[in-house]
Amino acid sequence: MVRPPDPLTLARSLPRRFTSPLRSPWLTARLGMWLGIAFGVCFLTGVLSHLVQHPPGWFHWPSRPVQLYRVTQGLHVASGLAAVPLLTAKIWSVYPRLFAWPPVRGIGSALDRAAVGLLSAAAVFEVVTGVLNIAYWYSAMPFGFLGAHYWTAYLLAGAVLLHLAAKLPALRPAAPPDPARRRVLALAGAAAATVTAATVGQTVAPLRRVSLLAPRLPGVGPQGLPVNKTAAAARVARADASYRLLVTGPGGRHALSLADLERLPQASVELPIACVEGWSATGTWSGVRLADLLRLVGAEHTDRPVRVESLQPDGPYRESVLDPGPARDPLTLIALRLGHEPLHLDHGYPCRLIAPNRPGVLQTKWVAAITVAPR
Ligand code: HEM
Repeated sequence: MVRPPDPLTLARSLPRRFTSPLRSPWLTARLGMWLGIAFGVCFLTGVLSHLVQHPPGWFHWPSRPVQLYRVTQGLHVASGLAAVPLLTAKIWSVYPRLFAWPPVRGIGSALDRAAVGLLSAAAVFEVVTGVLNIAYWYSAMPFGFLGAHYWTAYLLAGAVLLHLAAKLPALRPAAPPDPARRRVLALAGAAAATVTAATVGQTVAPLRRVSLLAPRLPGVGPQGLPVNKTAAAARVARADASYRLLVTGPGGRHALSLADLERLPQASVELPIACVEGWSATGTWSGVRLADLLRLVGAEHTDRPVRVESLQPDGPYRESVLDPGPARDPLTLIALRLGHEPLHLDHGYPCRLIAPNRPGVLQTKWVAAITVAPR
């Protein structure tokens, strides 16, 4: 009769079974360094994006350079995606230690293992939720993505610092690695470069032909520009002749029809839609300067925030607020056209906000009302 293996004997033999001569502290440390850089960029650009969208009183996001948010959020998603193969390689390089026997050798080793467990779980969580988000697979996340992704980022940053402090003494210059291990590192680097090339065309237009995995591409969408939230998804119907844009300020209120807006002085700007999900594309927008609408209601020199509301019935982005500076900025438009055509409904017909250096979710579409905050 064949006897089943004794579980204890099996557990003790596992580390040997998983041994590969390619694994080494040198390889793990190098992968960790690359991953640390990618996560560091993700953390800084992610926290910045949070501040831009939910600014505390002390934070003021400049409206120049106009492409800044496009670059920071593009970097966030690009470095996060490049981290996927690096994290996979790093986990491969250390996972046999999961089966180390005995599992802990005292309080110090128990704490070390707990910290590494937390670090790994937080890293995998950030990368997986980020990818699900840009892949529009929201139903796979039965929790609020933003809150979970945001707070886990702090957990991850803390765990990385603890891990570094614990491992730094062990990172003495090692003997030169053998060529096989160098090749593993090069393979991980090549995988990260391939993932980047396959997705970064979502914001670096010249690379869009090779970006086969990018969820959105410049040039693809109504009027040649991608759209994240369609009118149908936002439950907005096409405005009819009864549409009026309500502009309210210290000097009174105006209800402007589309024809009234067309009769006001028109301006044209070239600005990107820079989506929080990492894609971006430039359009040529024309319409009325927000500054001119503010002038109509006696607020041309306002130092008050300006609220822009949408026809969208609900949702977190049905309104956005501009600081007085960006509201008076000559590049900030209530756009009526993209290129030479009236806005497509999915781009915000009859009119939308377009302002320099602003996340796409704050470029309110289907604008219904503009209100200068009262004193
Ligand atoms: C593949 C990897 C990743 C992808 C694709 C990704 C994607 C995203 C996206 C799309 C957002 C914007 C969400 C929104 O405002 O609607 C975001 C925000 C953010 N991400 Fe990531 N991310 C990734 C990895 C990471 C990592 C590793 C960290 C931390 C080290 C991180 C930290 C943050 C933070 C702090 C925010 C701001 C959340 C907020 O506005 O409340 N992300 N990420």
